[in-house]
Amino acid sequence: MKVLSIVGARPQFIKLAPFSRHVSKNHQEIVLHTGQHYDHIMSDGIFEELEIPKPNYNLEIGSGRHGKQTGRMLEEVEDVLINEEPDVVVIFGDTNSTLAGALAAVKLGIPSIHIEAGLRSFNREMPEEINRVVSDHTCDHLFVPTNSAMSNLEKEGLDHRAWKSGDIMVDTLQNSLEVALQKDTLEKAGVEKSCYYLVTLHRPYNVDDPDSLQQILNHLGKLSLEVLFPAHPRTKKIIKEHSLEVPEGINITSPFGYFDFLNLQYNAAKIITDSGGIQKEAYLLKKPCLTLRTETEWTETVKAGWNKLIDAIDPDFVETIEEFQPPAEQENIFGENVAMRMVQKIEELVS
Ligand code: UD1
Repeated sequence: MKVLSIVGARPQFIKLAPFSRHVSKNHQEIVLHTGQHYDHIMSDGIFEELEIPKPNYNLEIGSGRHGKQTGRMLEEVEDVLINEEPDVVVIFGDTNSTLAGALAAVKLGIPSIHIEAGLRSFNREMPEEINRVVSDHTCDHLFVPTNSAMSNLEKEGLDHRAWKSGDIMVDTLQNSLEVALQKDTLEKAGVEKSCYYLVTLHRPYNVDDPDSLQQILNHLGKLSLEVLFPAHPRTKKIIKEHSLEVPEGINITSPFGYFDFLNLQYNAAKIITDSGGIQKEAYLLKKPCLTLRTETEWTETVKAGWNKLIDAIDPDFVETIEEFQPPAEQENIFGENVAMRMVQKIEELVS
């Protein structure tokens, strides 16, 4: 089989790593990188660390308005698909690269697989929500990470195309943790085990309005432990352009590589984030997670008591974070050996 995987942003490279490793054992894999993320640490650095073969194509699309960015991707992805004639196209997650890949494949009648299908926030202001809905309704086969994602697809009449695969990020984490914990990350970051909160924020509704980002920074500055805040380029740019005040006790750094960031999650007292992937990794690492959003796609982690939604305007913001304690027990939400089973399923579906 000739399998063509489409990626473009950091979380997709992390999902691609175990998939690539398994698929390339018995099949030809072509990797197409749209170039949506282009900073070394957000892109090439992750390919190197996770030993993902260099992409066969990098479209170097870069940043831009949503329509323009997605449109340029669509045009160029289509050219590659026509040129390569793959047997199957695989897309991951919910970014603009996912959307462009799904549309290009289906219009050419090439069988398509969406990995991480069925997630819904029911918040249509999130660009990712639109990407998820369109990709799920477009792709031929939906690989679904959780029970709640499966039930979303049932409600939309898509269950006949869906298969519960588990979450592929489980494999990436399990393959990487040992190496990650050998790194001198804490020393490099200037923090001590269990003595810091780890923060990441990049969602437009948290960071694009400078006043609301300033309010979040002010809250974070009141926490009892040091705050380590590796900032996405989008967040860094807003802080700089609007000369936001960073309270004492908050250390804003550049993003870390995947291994260093796993190490930082493993050793943090708690994690505060608006990222989907980090909510999952926190659960898998048994770390209390506070999610700065009004809703989440990863509802099981909240129901299990390991993740709590928190609003930036909540007057009890600081107390909620300080007092949050998950239960002692944890159930397996995300499955195991996911990449290997995905490849077997694709062999059954496309042959
Ligand atoms: C994208 C995804 C989001 C995912 C996130 C992970 C969409 C709609 N969003 O959001 O689902 O959670 O990636 O990181 O696809 N920038 C750089 N260097 C880079 C990449 C981006 O400086 O390597 C800057 C650009 O100035 C750009 C901004 O960050 O304007 C936002 O980048 P973009 O790719 O549009 O979306 P993300 O916010 O990263």
